[in-house]
Amino acid sequence: MAKITFVTFDGVRFDTDAENGSTVMENAIRNAVPGIDAECGGACACATCHVYIDDAWKDVTGEPEAMEEDMLDFAYDVRPSSRLSCQIRVSDELDGLVVHVPERQA
Ligand code: FES
Repeated sequence: MAKITFVTFDGVRFDTDAENGSTVMENAIRNAVPGIDAECGGACACATCHVYIDDAWKDVTGEPEAMEEDMLDFAYDVRPSSRLSCQIRVSDELDGLVVHVPERQA
């Protein structure tokens, strides 16, 4: 179990309890976090689950793998902290994670 906080583009915080083994995207959807569309359902095929990882957490969440990196090319306003939230698997290590939702999805 990990507490994950989503911060929307306009600064609204959503504090969620995420089960280990689920993905960050699934927790955004389950908690009705606005701004995460996840059109492909987590198959790394749409880039509409794009988020920015808070600077303090980038080392813990790690770098995107090649397939995710390719899909990120289709995301809106990609930054060095960009990740696809369906590709981040929840574990105890992520307890306290903060992610920021972009202004819009591509
Ligand atoms: S939900 Fe489609 S790439 Fe993440």
